[in-house]
Amino acid sequence: MQKVKKAAPLQNRTMPATEFLERIISRLDRIDRKSLEHYVQDLARQTQFLTSLINQSREGILVLSFDKETLFLNHRIIQLFNIPEHVKQKEKLGQLISDQPFVEFVSNAIEKHEEIFQSEFEVLLPRPMILRINLSFDETQIPHIAILSIANVTQVETNIRERFQTENWESMLGLAAGIAHEIGNPLNSLTIHLKLLSKSIQKLPPQERKKVETSIRVMEDETARLDRIVRNFLKATRRKPLRYELGQINDLLSKTIAFLKPELKTSKIKVVEEFDKQIPIFLFDSERIQQVFINIIKNAIHAMPKGGMLRAQIEAKGKLCLIHFQDTGIGIPDDKLSKIFDAYYTTREEGSGLGLMIVYQIIREHGGRIEVASAPNTGTTFTVILPIRTKKLSLPEPERRQVK
Ligand SMILES: Nc1ncnc2c1ncn2[C@@H]1O[C@H](COP(=O)(O)OP(=O)(O)OP(=O)(O)O)[C@@H](O)[C@H]1O
Ligand SMILES: [Mg+2]
Repeated sequence: MQKVKKAAPLQNRTMPATEFLERIISRLDRIDRKSLEHYVQDLARQTQFLTSLINQSREGILVLSFDKETLFLNHRIIQLFNIPEHVKQKEKLGQLISDQPFVEFVSNAIEKHEEIFQSEFEVLLPRPMILRINLSFDETQIPHIAILSIANVTQVETNIRERFQTENWESMLGLAAGIAHEIGNPLNSLTIHLKLLSKSIQKLPPQERKKVETSIRVMEDETARLDRIVRNFLKATRRKPLRYELGQINDLLSKTIAFLKPELKTSKIKVVEEFDKQIPIFLFDSERIQQVFINIIKNAIHAMPKGGMLRAQIEAKGKLCLIHFQDTGIGIPDDKLSKIFDAYYTTREEGSGLGLMIVYQIIREHGGRIEVASAPNTGTTFTVILPIRTKKLSLPEPERRQVK
């Protein structure tokens, strides 16, 4: 008679689940029904214990198959991405998370089998957040899995940025704006006096007049340049609150291109408009977004001194509106790409280097993002990404405690 060995008492609180399970499996044929029941109950308890631990983690944990199918996700992920209760497992990553650039970033890494360590990513949906992510792979599991852990570091990052801004940037800006304002007045009077001067030299003999006229022209050009810098600076630092209104982005861009048509025509630039007609109306400050379009298009004009083509495209990707401006201009060298949004960075004689800084600020105020790709002598593409919102911004993710 085969002797049924009594199961050893379970001391599995600290034993890893897999080890515990392996032990049971190896003894399965020798375990009596009662002990098996006992094991199963204990296993269920342990699974519950581990799941609840994972669910309480401040980090979001998402386990995916290599096909980007969700195998497990904890509560934090549901909270971070506002995932409805009924869609939880077996969904593709793209169906679970609405921020498509984020989905593409993670999907690419999984496809290329590239681990991610402490990388920061700014998402716009379901609300603007700065996420710190890690991605690792476990090929001992069947199927092979990718483990994504995500922490919301928005608050930490914002605090650091805000502290930096309030301590340095804001005070510097205030001081500089004051000076710029003060420069405005003598500049006006200089302009007027130069005009008077050019009138009065009409009485001089022609030879002498020519010399003075050349000098006056240089002074006029220089004061005009200074005036432009001061005006642009004041525009950039002025903090007028945003005026959100529901608007049709396609119409706004069409209108802006029509407004710049004479300049585009003289510069021999052909414009191609490719607008997705299905883009819904959404909230934005049309005056400022128009400013964004003007600054980007003007830069494209400057980048194509011998003419060329500007392709303006608008497309929707989930809840994001992407506006691409692709030119066939001189391009931007790789080592200069990180500088173009800095104040006063310019490669143009007449430039004040504030155009893209203003663009950046306006887009950030809208909770959006700007991306740029460029190849010298081929062209540049700027992509403005705006969230499609029809209601006011949702409040930051609830970290609320229940208040009785
Ligand atoms: N489409 C583009 N193609 C090539 N270079 C560009 C393009 N857009 C911007 N740049 C580069 O970025 C720099 C900064 O642009 P930005 O608009 O901030 O300033 P600017 O055009 O020089 O002056 P302004 O303040 O009058 O706009 C430009 O001087 C140029 O070198
Ligand atoms: Mg510019």
